[in-house]
Amino acid sequence: MSAPGGRLGRYFIETWGCQMNVLDADKTAGALESHGYARAASAEDADVVLLNTCSIREKAQEKVFSELGRLKPLKDRRPGLVLGVCGCVAQQEGAAIFGRAPYVDFVVGTRATRSIPLLVDRLRAGDESARHVSDTALRDDSIEFPYDRIRREIGGAAKAFVTIIEGCNHRCSFCIVPRTRGRESSRDMDDVLDEVRALGAKGFTEIEFLGQTVNAYRDARGRTLGDLLRAAARIDGITRLRFTTSHPAQMTAALMDAMADARPVLCPYLHLPVQSGSSSVLRAMRRGYDRAGYLGKVAALRERIPGLCLGTDVIVGFPTETDADFEETLSLLEEVEFDTVYSFAYSARPGTTAAALGPDLSAELKFGRLARLQGVQREIQERRSRRWVDRDVEVLVEEPNPRRAGGWTGRTPEARIVHFDGPSAPGRLERIRITQSGAFSLRGTMSAGA
Ligand code: SAH
Ligand code: F3S
Repeated sequence: MSAPGGRLGRYFIETWGCQMNVLDADKTAGALESHGYARAASAEDADVVLLNTCSIREKAQEKVFSELGRLKPLKDRRPGLVLGVCGCVAQQEGAAIFGRAPYVDFVVGTRATRSIPLLVDRLRAGDESARHVSDTALRDDSIEFPYDRIRREIGGAAKAFVTIIEGCNHRCSFCIVPRTRGRESSRDMDDVLDEVRALGAKGFTEIEFLGQTVNAYRDARGRTLGDLLRAAARIDGITRLRFTTSHPAQMTAALMDAMADARPVLCPYLHLPVQSGSSSVLRAMRRGYDRAGYLGKVAALRERIPGLCLGTDVIVGFPTETDADFEETLSLLEEVEFDTVYSFAYSARPGTTAAALGPDLSAELKFGRLARLQGVQREIQERRSRRWVDRDVEVLVEEPNPRRAGGWTGRTPEARIVHFDGPSAPGRLERIRITQSGAFSLRGTMSAGA
């Protein structure tokens, strides 16, 4: 829906990074549309191009500069085109971006998104004082964004993401997020619940709460993620609830109890980044838990929520990581048997304390360990997946299978990806009999009488 027909021009947003960043792009799009801009199909067709950026690893950041290089000829040809950089690279680099790419018109950080429409207007009106503005003020524009104006693109027909907390108060020694997203700020729980009710009324059935440390959520009246889960699980029309990303140190017994109370609406899948299986590396990472502490949380969670599936993030090649430390990470993967692991080679980030801990390990060593870890995990996932074969699962259909005409792709409550063929549509719940399993997805057939 583009409010008054795009009378002010057309915009295009290119976005990278986590779900929170993608949701920020949906908010920026909503702000521009209610201001009078309409969506363009590509940068070439647009009057306003925004890059919503990610800086979590060096490679993500470099992609932004190579994309800017690709856009430069377009800007040279059409000087009236407005080109802005927002998101995490914007927050981190600020006006330094103009040094590397002087043809960028403005830079807006992660918490000042509301200033974008006005800056765009001023530039389009030829106001030179708006050129090279860098607004990296830490306001709460993203979490206080009026939810009825979000132009929801991610999630699909039945699933919506809802930001409940922004920022991170941890200081993991490798991580740039506290610098790019600022300190924690939680949204009022009543406002969150209003949004969930409105989404339920619109036909959304699955809600995923988002935050960089989502389980640190605590609103001004002291209400926690546990309180929110209990209340949201009772809202009409909402049949699946999830939240991400949780910090293990804040995975308290009280939250686990609330998760159990919110079943079965709360889905039996939890993303709980461990980062390393070695207590000494965890200490150097300043994660606030050790190996035994993490394993204890996993056991307590599995006791309260039978059938819980787990996902995690792992960094290999942290500056102090020895061969023995790495072996401990592999053994932790075997011990926990995660269903999903996102693994990354350590990337030194500017201003983080880990970058000063010692020289970076060689790329050969880091990527060798990464490949080994991925091989080990692949076998674990194949094993974990096989137990679904010959079972019926409930699949929320997300989209047509891009690689198979007439096929569909969706997810089970455990977040397993399922492919199947047959008459269906995005947003529908189907009962699927699983016939084949692989490390990353399942395949099945529509159950008779579904
Ligand atoms: N709690 C956050 C985590 C942010 S980053 C969230 O919202 O998801 C996501 C993952 O990227 C981290 O869990 C970590 O495994 C990885 N990561 C973060 N900094 C990194 C770095 N400097 N090098 C490599 N991987 C990193
Ligand atoms: Fe980063 Fe650690 Fe926070 S990984 S987002 S500083 S919990």
